[in-house]
Amino acid sequence: MAAKCTVRSPSNIAFIKYWGAKDLDQAIPINPSLSMTLTNCYSRSTVEWVSEDGEHEIQWRTSSGDFEAAPPAFADRVRQHLDFLRRWAKIEGRFRIATENSFPSAAGLASSASGFSALTLATLGAIGRQTSTAEESALARLSGSGSAARSVLGGYVEWPASSSFGALSSRAECYACQVMPAEHWDLRNVIAVVERGAKLISSLDGHRRAQTSPYFHTRQRRLPGRLKAVRRAIETRDFERLGKVIETEAIDLHCVAMTSEPAIFYWSPATLTILEAVRAMRMDGIAAFSTMDAGANVHVICQPEVEGEVAQRLEQLDIELSLIRDCVGPGPVVEDEHLF
Ligand code: PMV
Repeated sequence: MAAKCTVRSPSNIAFIKYWGAKDLDQAIPINPSLSMTLTNCYSRSTVEWVSEDGEHEIQWRTSSGDFEAAPPAFADRVRQHLDFLRRWAKIEGRFRIATENSFPSAAGLASSASGFSALTLATLGAIGRQTSTAEESALARLSGSGSAARSVLGGYVEWPASSSFGALSSRAECYACQVMPAEHWDLRNVIAVVERGAKLISSLDGHRRAQTSPYFHTRQRRLPGRLKAVRRAIETRDFERLGKVIETEAIDLHCVAMTSEPAIFYWSPATLTILEAVRAMRMDGIAAFSTMDAGANVHVICQPEVEGEVAQRLEQLDIELSLIRDCVGPGPVVEDEHLF
């Protein structure tokens, strides 16, 4: 018996970020986070459930366009998650999977969020399990990539910290919920890609080190107010209010990373050039704000009427970069065409 399912799942960009875990193995965050699900940055996964026992087969599409055995570090994480889902579903057999990304992997563009969201949903489809969105979010989170919990949903998505659910129920019940659908507010994300290679320090290591920073608790104290402001700004489509908070939040996260022990510097000189360029855009009346994940690349958030101008100004900078033009989107879709 074999069943196959293919899911395309978008990445997301966090406005309030997950950085530091109560339980890293279970991806239980210390603080709530809130993100915008993207459209053009996505992962696509085909999962086939094969009834006979044996090793999972894990392929990924390389930059040359061919499918090859996935590199060991990534394949190990995928294998562990497939084993976990098999135990959770109480089934036998093994999985064949192929996966691809529409954008650079592990470069701070949340490819693990889209990747593990797509993998989780395609596996559930392949084994024919009907699940609620809450279950899908919790299962995606248990891949170890916490931000995958947000990528199973579209629009604007909040992932509360475990404490709001109580310690005992946190494992299964720590899941993300949609705050507003994508149609509520058409926000754009012009991503300035200045580094395409994989970052040297993974976000998992970042979570591990976060609490060694003297600024960790300072940022934590600011988060409840920030979260409220971001929720309200989304509700009322108040771009200035949203922008100010998300830029400060991203800089704070990087301050925590830079002051962790050992310190983590995700920024490159080009990152600073872009941050400065975005501030200069605002001086010239172009409403745009920056945010970054755990990487050197900068996400420039703006509204549709200035997106073209933002892209043009970034392209004119005297640094090497490529742009990805993205926008808020409706979340994952099941596709009819499979990768194998
Ligand atoms: O989900 P992880 O373990 O890859 O961590 C995500 C970390 C950030 O991208 C920096 C923040 C976030 O909330 O997406």
